[in-house]
Amino acid sequence: MTEWQKTDWRKKPRVQMPDYLDADALKAVEGRLSSYPPLVFAGEARRLKAQLGAASRGEAFLLQGGDCAESFSEFSADGIRDTFKVMLQMAMVLTYGAKVPVVKVGRMAGQMAKPRSAPTETVGGVELPSYRGDIINGFDFTPEARIPDPTRMEQAYLQAAATLNLLRAFSTGGYADVHKVHAWTLGFTAQAEAEKYREIAERISDTLDFMEAAGIRSEASHALETVDFYTSHEALLLEYEEALTRLDSTSGKWLAGSGHMIWIGDRTRQPDGAHVEFCKGVQNPIGLKCGPSMTTGHLKSLMSSLNPDNEAGRLTLICRFGAGNVGEHLPRLIKAVEEEGAKVVWTCDAMHGNTIKSTTGYKTRPFESVLREVREFFGVHAAEGTVPGGVHFEMTGKDVTECTGGVRAVTDEDLSDRYHTACDPRLNASQSLELAFLVAEELSDRRTKIAAAKAG
Ligand code: PEP
Ligand code: CO
Repeated sequence: MTEWQKTDWRKKPRVQMPDYLDADALKAVEGRLSSYPPLVFAGEARRLKAQLGAASRGEAFLLQGGDCAESFSEFSADGIRDTFKVMLQMAMVLTYGAKVPVVKVGRMAGQMAKPRSAPTETVGGVELPSYRGDIINGFDFTPEARIPDPTRMEQAYLQAAATLNLLRAFSTGGYADVHKVHAWTLGFTAQAEAEKYREIAERISDTLDFMEAAGIRSEASHALETVDFYTSHEALLLEYEEALTRLDSTSGKWLAGSGHMIWIGDRTRQPDGAHVEFCKGVQNPIGLKCGPSMTTGHLKSLMSSLNPDNEAGRLTLICRFGAGNVGEHLPRLIKAVEEEGAKVVWTCDAMHGNTIKSTTGYKTRPFESVLREVREFFGVHAAEGTVPGGVHFEMTGKDVTECTGGVRAVTDEDLSDRYHTACDPRLNASQSLELAFLVAEELSDRRTKIAAAKAG
């Protein structure tokens, strides 16, 4: 077998990628990106892989979340901070319930290319190419904006670099210090979760006080004062991915330098396609979206080509069937995985199978459907005796009105108030936290059952 090259994907059929009109402009951008520093370091990707390996065994839990699509116009320090903060809050709630470490992975610092269900969009009788994410073309409904522009890749790179820089600063510079667990409560708007969260924060503070009094603080302090926070995005725009791919001198293996974890979307996972070909050769943890159309045959072939050495933490199966459909699809995929003896992290993307059009015309997701899909996911794993390893959400720290429902009941009529997403509807801060409490409950029930089974 000849060795994998980062350009090999170019010989394979590609879908969902733009046709750039100006080949010279594209080449020039690719050349510049190839000379820029990668955004992540191979050791970080390997550490994430080890942590995901723990999640595959039920010894950790993956929380992956962030925007559907990061946009150039919504790029701000406050936006990054708010999403980071909600993820920390959710992680705190989950750690408390599950009593295992929570692996935090943002859909951030590179989540800017979007697969679309239709190549064109028609508004008021005018048909234009679809918006494909800010790294490719513009959101404005004009013919000029919708032309794929390769220079957008460079802007995306700079935005990703600045985002990651701030995330690293927050993670290690004191913001994420668990002793500040109370400070993160500020800005809560929904009373019910705020109360529940404060209760947990109170107990955590008590424990910290106790540890300090007992003289434990100094040894444990580094772990408590900083967090590991990783980035991820869909590896859709392969020209961008290839340009940031580097050979890691320590391991002699290739690394996608665009983010710690990358995933393959539900529309681009053809076993012989360009996206699978690219992901095969890089050492990063890989996510694979599994929708209702994933066959067991395809899954088996994808697992063997993406994870031939059956390395724990390499492959995360991100299930997105939609509420009401999990019972039909998850057991057959679990069976395929078990038959192969494959090591995977099972996670639940409770967003992409639950998108509907509201009565007021907005694309939305009912919060009840999101909750229901999460419950069904845990239910099937309990019945099968397999490990629910994580959750995957589209969410933001901002108080948007994009998904209906939740304790503060967003209605169809409310959607127009603060509907800011560049693509799919996201959970707002309050809905995200409410969901974290539900997942924590599921995880703690699971723990109780396992302990009871061991004892009995
Ligand atoms: C996404 O995660 O934003 C996405 C497009 O998902 P999927 O490929 O599962 O539809
Ligand atoms: Co989406």
